[in-house]
Amino acid sequence: MNPTSPAPETKTLLITGATSGIGYAAARHFIELGWKLVITGRDKARLERACEKLKQETGAEVLGILADSAELSHLGPLVQTLDECNIRLDGLLLNAGVFQPFALTDMSDELYEQTMQVNFKGPLFTLNALLPKLNRGASVVYTSSIAVDKGFAGAAIYSASKGAFEAAMKALNLELAGQKIRINSLRPGVTLTEIQQKAGFSQAQIDGLGGQLAATAFGDFLLPSHMLSALTFLLSPGSEGVIGTTVTVDGGYCL
Ligand SMILES: NC(=O)c1ccc[n+]([C@@H]2O[C@H](COP(=O)([O-])OP(=O)(O)OC[C@H]3O[C@@H](n4cnc5c(N)ncnc54)[C@H](OP(=O)(O)O)[C@@H]3O)[C@@H](O)[C@H]2O)c1
Repeated sequence: MNPTSPAPETKTLLITGATSGIGYAAARHFIELGWKLVITGRDKARLERACEKLKQETGAEVLGILADSAELSHLGPLVQTLDECNIRLDGLLLNAGVFQPFALTDMSDELYEQTMQVNFKGPLFTLNALLPKLNRGASVVYTSSIAVDKGFAGAAIYSASKGAFEAAMKALNLELAGQKIRINSLRPGVTLTEIQQKAGFSQAQIDGLGGQLAATAFGDFLLPSHMLSALTFLLSPGSEGVIGTTVTVDGGYCL
């Protein structure tokens, strides 16, 4: 959690929700590519552990900022910390997300809001708050899901939350074009991370899911590492002509 000023030529990436899974793997990967990393998390202890682990694994000091994606009041302090550390961003990975499946018949206002706030409203307002910190030419990537395209019983609101951001992304790209800021989305397929346990799946259910995936072209769970090449592409200047699109990394799940 120690901020250091990046060298002028060093690119800086902020990843929301990088305490585990795809976000953590991306943080480590971009450090190894020479980027300066800022990560956020909603839990202080988990955030500190992630920063410490990244330091042990890469030697890099990573700035960790406590920011709950569902709490708009956390955005002011997030921007203030970046200001105080004189940090501007070349990349933003809006990755923080939750998967809390429930059937339509079990829906409550609270369950609906939890998913929509973390997966849609949070990233939208985070982008808005961080706009002044984004350099000209910055690339923004939203971690969406194949659930936008493929129905999963119990995941209606999850799908809607991801689809909502993708729909907004189209217009936002037109609004931000003058600043040469572009937004794309990554749609992971079923990827083995902590998200399954956080969703309440037992180990037997996770194993069962793995068994079902044997029938897909890839034949197994994807891993966070499978997302990294697509993220590298989307966050690199070489993809400057790629605007408002989605890159699917689903191991052929939707075939
Ligand atoms: N794994 C899959 O099969 C899959 C498929 C498609 C899309 N995705 C998407 O990929 C993204 C990463 O998920 P993952 O699979 O890597 O799961 P994960 O390991 O649970 O990572 C999710 C990250 O988001 C953070 N987070 C959750 N709620 C937050 C909040 N309110 N404020 C700030 N951070 C919050 C988590 O923090 P904590 O450590 O505190 O929980 C964690 O760092 C999510 O947007 C997810 O919807 C995943």
